Amino acid sequence: MEIIHSIEKLQQILNRNERGNRTVGLVPTMGFLHEGHLALAEQAKEQNDTVVMSIFVNPAQFGPGEDFESYPRDTERDAKLAESAGVDYLFIPSVEEMYPTDGGIRILPGPQATALCGASRPGHFDGVLKVVLKLFNIVDPDRSYFGMKDAQQLAIIETFVRDFNLRTTIVRVPTVREEDGLAKSSRNVNLSEMERNEAPAIRQALELGAKLFAEGISAKEIETRVAAYITENSSGTIDYVSMLTYPELTKYEPSSKEAILACAVKFEKTRLIDNIIL
Ligand code: PAF
Repeated sequence: MEIIHSIEKLQQILNRNERGNRTVGLVPTMGFLHEGHLALAEQAKEQNDTVVMSIFVNPAQFGPGEDFESYPRDTERDAKLAESAGVDYLFIPSVEEMYPTDGGIRILPGPQATALCGASRPGHFDGVLKVVLKLFNIVDPDRSYFGMKDAQQLAIIETFVRDFNLRTTIVRVPTVREEDGLAKSSRNVNLSEMERNEAPAIRQALELGAKLFAEGISAKEIETRVAAYITENSSGTIDYVSMLTYPELTKYEPSSKEAILACAVKFEKTRLIDNIIL
């Protein structure tokens, strides 16, 4: 595995004219890798000749007062894990390398970004699309891998790729969980011991929601009971519990085809998200 910090060097290596028929898979991350990221890399390895993983804690997607500074970072450990998962090129640009200039152009996602995390993190998905577009232009990947834990992000990126004819194919990868059901997340290390013990309540609550859904309970009642379960079984504060259509992220109606039940819960130093597709 080669570690690359320069955009120009990576673009030279991956130049499509010299690639021939070799396919490239991209795994964009913000580092502090866990099994969820490694599952993305392993799937990319199975489906492509070359795997590129990026590690970049993207300031453009953090709002004022959010956890950009305290976001966990450990590049040395990440490099070992990435190599073990079969990554060929680990791209770790600096902020100056990625954002040397700012001409003020913004990418504004559509209504999918007004629900769920978009409502409580204004501008977050603008920043995600900005860095994702840059990564797509730098790597020019045949396939790009995103986890279902960030289901809203995935849905918005799929729309972006479709509507703007971007050349990559988005691959959805299922959420990887701890044994007790907590979704793997780099942010889990910022939970206190007590919060870590309570956090599986999020998954249990979503499973309760899925059971209620199967029993024909209304979306509103499901949201109420899922939020109550989390509040009763953890010290976390509910940011949202919401049932919407997926991937459109519009109001759920009984005639809707596929739904998502998603939640965000704030603990003292971190905010966790999870979801279940119904
Ligand atoms: O999901 C993430 O880790 C980030 O939002 C992404 C896609 C790497 C963009 O910074």
